[in-house]
Amino acid sequence: MAVVPYKDSDAPKKKQVAEMFNNISGRYDLLNHTLSFHVDKYWRKKTIRILSKYTPETILDIATGTADFAIEACKINPQKVTGIDISKGMLEIGRKKIIKKKLTDKIELMVADSENLPFEDNTFDSSVAGFGVRNFEDIEKGLSEVLRVLKIGGWFLILEFSKPQSGIFKMLYGFYFKRILPFIGKIVSKDRSAYLYLHDSVSEFPSGKKFEDILKRVGFVNISSVPLTFGIATIYKGQKSKSF
Ligand SMILES: C[S@@+](CC[C@H](N)C(=O)[O-])C[C@H]1O[C@@H](n2cnc3c(N)ncnc32)[C@H](O)[C@@H]1O
Repeated sequence: MAVVPYKDSDAPKKKQVAEMFNNISGRYDLLNHTLSFHVDKYWRKKTIRILSKYTPETILDIATGTADFAIEACKINPQKVTGIDISKGMLEIGRKKIIKKKLTDKIELMVADSENLPFEDNTFDSSVAGFGVRNFEDIEKGLSEVLRVLKIGGWFLILEFSKPQSGIFKMLYGFYFKRILPFIGKIVSKDRSAYLYLHDSVSEFPSGKKFEDILKRVGFVNISSVPLTFGIATIYKGQKSKSF
């Protein structure tokens, strides 16, 4: 059964995910940075540093949320970054940040679903997704849509939570993620389900080799991954090699 934010609801996962992110959007950045001890910023920076090797002019930020990845991507000086998300609330926060950073001529944000992207085939040089793919209702559909809209030769870099595999860190992380994080998340975000969902969705996510296999099945090539910070997060990358 799919992991959903609100277990008592009959609404489809996508609707529940959008509702959840709308509910917590005002507190998302604060919680994200505090609960990760600000390491999330380093993870995005590292992903964009890898992306910089390919000098993309046009970048699609999938599940952009409050636009942190889109903003970071501007540091490699692309012509344009397009950020899409299903949560209007998250995008509103992102828009305010973009105005404050004077990046309105570089970044465009729009409400759109990763599983049904409103772009022509072969549109973008590269794409990134930060902590988004875990939330897709149909992960393969979402990934194949990214593949479709990438130009041939284009790279897709995915930053996603994963699970530390061994040692005392695995235990500490399990305790923190299952007990402390939902506790603080509930108090600050006022949405208890959101941070329980975070734990459940990360636990269920097919990370590492399993995710690489999904990328391969969908049609990406030259797939590889780099675990970060004892394996709490992983950067995956894959390339489009032909038209579909
Ligand atoms: C954890 S946030 C990540 C936001 C941002 N990328 C970051 O790095 O902080 C996940 C985002 O994925 C979005 N999302 C989930 N499913 C989506 C879909 N099918 N299409 C577009 N966005 C989606 C949510 O609305 C939410 O804003």
